[in-house]
Amino acid sequence: MKIIGILGSAREGGSTRYLIEEVMKEPKAKGAETKIYNLGKMDIRCCLGCGVCRKKERDCVRKDDMRLLYEEMKTADAIIIGTPIYMGEMTGQLKTFIDRCFALKDAQSKPLIPAGKKLAVVITQGAPMPDHYIKTPDRIEYIFKGLGFIPIGRITAVSVHNTEELLQNKDVLEQARELGKQLL
Ligand SMILES: Cc1cc2nc3c(=O)[nH]c(=O)nc-3n(C[C@H](O)[C@H](O)[C@H](O)COP(=O)(O)O)c2cc1C
Repeated sequence: MKIIGILGSAREGGSTRYLIEEVMKEPKAKGAETKIYNLGKMDIRCCLGCGVCRKKERDCVRKDDMRLLYEEMKTADAIIIGTPIYMGEMTGQLKTFIDRCFALKDAQSKPLIPAGKKLAVVITQGAPMPDHYIKTPDRIEYIFKGLGFIPIGRITAVSVHNTEELLQNKDVLEQARELGKQLL
């Protein structure tokens, strides 16, 4: 089994990476192949809106690190998408990645990747209200459902400004490990 993590925080030692790793813990112990991609450290440029990717048997014209992620999404059994909330939304690098996922459908808007892959969503935020930014995980699930993924769960870590604060929230760490079991 292969699980990829899409990390929407450029902060390497941050809470979002920690939580994605926590979700991956059980699958990894059971032999799953896991890998986390930090979007902020990759060369992923904006969608040009040219529409070439939706033309018959044409790929995205941008030859950057999305080429690797397109292949990874095609071959993975599950994907974990994690983002901190920045200025009330997912981070810019995650949105750019999602825009580029436009190329994962054909001219008839039919997904080009096999259906049935599992999706887990991880949100971290400074604000204490769990549903305050609920549109962010809703939107991520909606987009990936359209690509044939099956959302199996989400977690939101609230009142988090650094990993030390996250580690004090035992409930959310437990939720992350439970979410990991659902990926198997
Ligand atoms: C530029 C920036 C903007 C932020 N905007 C918000 C926000 O609008 N709402 C919120 O609840 N937290 C906000 N935060 C806090 C982060 O979402 C929170 O600390 C998160 O856990 C950081 O994740 P990381 O450690 O993986 O980078 C912001 C943090 C930064 C650096």
